[in-house]
Amino acid sequence: MSERITVELGERSYPIVIGRGLVGGEFDLTQHLAGGDCLVVTNQTVAPLYLESLRRNLEGASIQSVSLEDGEAFKTLSAVETILDTLVESRANRDTSVVALGGGVVGDIAGFAAACYMRGVAFIQVPTTLLAQVDSSVGGKTGVNHPKGKNLIGAFHQPRIVLIDTDTLETLPDRELKAGLAEVIKYGAIADIEFFDWLEENIESLLSKEPGALAHAIKRSCELKAQVVAEDERESGRRAILNFGHTFGHAIEYCLGYGEWLHGEAVAAGMLMAGELSGIAEQQLARLRDLTERAGLPTRPPALGAAKLLDAMSLDKKALNKKLRFVLLRDLGDAYVTSDYSETGLQTICDAGS
Ligand code: NAD
Ligand code: GLY
Repeated sequence: MSERITVELGERSYPIVIGRGLVGGEFDLTQHLAGGDCLVVTNQTVAPLYLESLRRNLEGASIQSVSLEDGEAFKTLSAVETILDTLVESRANRDTSVVALGGGVVGDIAGFAAACYMRGVAFIQVPTTLLAQVDSSVGGKTGVNHPKGKNLIGAFHQPRIVLIDTDTLETLPDRELKAGLAEVIKYGAIADIEFFDWLEENIESLLSKEPGALAHAIKRSCELKAQVVAEDERESGRRAILNFGHTFGHAIEYCLGYGEWLHGEAVAAGMLMAGELSGIAEQQLARLRDLTERAGLPTRPPALGAAKLLDAMSLDKKALNKKLRFVLLRDLGDAYVTSDYSETGLQTICDAGS
């Protein structure tokens, strides 16, 4: 049995299909290809686990694959070039499709290559981390890091389908599962207090990968993301709330060196920093801190110092006229974007690293 959510974007609408046993099972992905050819982009960790199984979903298609080096440090233009070289060498035409099999790093790189090749070819997401299943595979943001900043190079390129097989999480290391939970907590904190309440009650079931709890968390997260993306595909307004904690988080990732803290870990600490900057009631902040802690995630930034963090944040994509903008909370479950914040508060929060 599978669940289906539609990301409503007019002629570029697409389904998110969520279920168990989908990769290697009956689900026919060939009907979502643009033509008969596809390039599966994966990495050296995920390929031995799921590439052969995925071939069964693509029976009848001509399949090539490229296996990238694993890790945030390899989310670079050079990885994109590797994919483009493979496409050129195989004489791929405009009716080829790029299929991303892996976590958010593979999805972001493969999606950007699909956006660039011949000015855009079809793209399919088969996310295999919790973080990718609840966040990065949905919404069409693709891209890579620049040596001077996180996700600075990229394009919007929506997939044709997102195929989420929750059974792939069985092989996911615990630390990666927890990192994905940061983005799940984010949805409750920014837009759905009832979901936040549910997470408080079910965090232990999620940590032990209880299938029913995981299915609910993934579905609710995808529904919330799909709604926001449908309202504001290109982030001219409301979509920015999905970046709650990310201005701080991206700066932490960059300053520590990519891969030192996982994206989700940096976002977790970033959400607490943004919560503090919001000035919400201490009791609400405590709820966010407790849930984040129970999920096994950091609630404080590393000791980097305000100057370093603020410098890294100056390249944040939400900034306008050189002025930073932050996603803050009016209340737990209700986020907004603003450039109106306390400069001294920001300085203190950035200096409070452990
Ligand atoms: P990741 O892609 O690095 O995957 C984490 C690790 O898990 C990797 O070592 C990977 O090889 C491994 N892995 C993947 N699936 C596995 C499985 N089923 N079993 C065992 N191991 C598995 O990290 P991530 O957390 O998935 O993604 C983080 C990236 O996503 C960051 O670069 C972040 O910027 C990006 N992101 C993008 C968006 C977006 O909207 N495009 C949103 C959020 C995050
Ligand atoms: N992860 C933020 C977004 O997709 O907009």
